[in-house]
Amino acid sequence: MNTYAEYLQLVEGALSVQLTSLGYIPEKLFEAMDYSLSAGGKRLRPVLLLAACDTLGGDVNEALPFACALEMIHTYSLIHDDLPAMDNDDLRRGRPTNHKVYGEGMAILAGDGLLSAAMELMLRAAVQMGDLRGVRAAEAIARRAGVTGMVAGQVMDVTGEGSEPTQEKVDYIHRHKTADLLTAPVEAGFILAGADEKTVAAGCEYGVNLGLAFQMVDDLLDVEGDAATLGKTPGKDAAEGKLTWVAVKGVEATREDAKIAVERAVAALNLIGGETNFLKTLAQSTLNRVQ
Ligand code: IPE
Ligand code: IPE
Ligand code: MG
Ligand code: MG
Ligand code: MG
Repeated sequence: MNTYAEYLQLVEGALSVQLTSLGYIPEKLFEAMDYSLSAGGKRLRPVLLLAACDTLGGDVNEALPFACALEMIHTYSLIHDDLPAMDNDDLRRGRPTNHKVYGEGMAILAGDGLLSAAMELMLRAAVQMGDLRGVRAAEAIARRAGVTGMVAGQVMDVTGEGSEPTQEKVDYIHRHKTADLLTAPVEAGFILAGADEKTVAAGCEYGVNLGLAFQMVDDLLDVEGDAATLGKTPGKDAAEGKLTWVAVKGVEATREDAKIAVERAVAALNLIGGETNFLKTLAQSTLNRVQ
């Protein structure tokens, strides 16, 4: 097993190599895609994918294209999430949002480009692997990013704005807009490592609960965080009438629920063989994150 910083370094080294390996991308499009992709961020999803694969003795280098693809999908989701028609945000990853720099048309296309590049990279890697693991990993990531996953969650988030916050609606939003993209790396990482179905299911249980806690803390940080540390503008959720965990339960109960979700994530690790300390620590650190 490696440290977070070591997995991060692998991801940072591979992201633009993977993107440029696809061939010539029109300059403006490449610039807009690269602007958001190279702005950094925590790289939690790709790091998690590599760590999950490593936990079960899989080949981290083989997993790298899938990790990069997932970060591209996440970055596309942020570019579109920030658009005026969605959350209308000016600041992301400490920089002006993509549409503020490149205009809405190019921001939409940069998102489309990152999503398409991700699919191409995953399928190319799967073809090269020549067995079903790559195809299954790509399917898991596509499914969790898609119309029953992240996109479905974003739909409920956008259409629910200003409506009465209920536990049921917020649970659906958190499970899909966020937890799906945090379950995808564990599911895909385990599949790439050749895990059996029961182990993959336990990994998904870990990922879903980690994802729920992660978005609860995101909702808390929107209330309590500051722009300089967050790299995005706080206070937006209440201003826009967003359906958040905090809107339903308040700050204190949200903190408690996040703790419970992390406990569930950690408990799921007991069903997984291998050295799970990295995954355990990562889940616990979600509770103390400030960005
Ligand atoms: C932001 O994700 C969107 C949410 C699902 C809350 P991150 O907090 O992982 O953002 P980056 O990738 O570090 O910028
Ligand atoms: C974003 O949720 C989830 C996705 C981008 C899929 P938020 O709208 O709460 O994320 P931030 O707070 O803008 O990062
Ligand atoms: Mg949003
Ligand atoms: Mg947003
Ligand atoms: Mg948020």
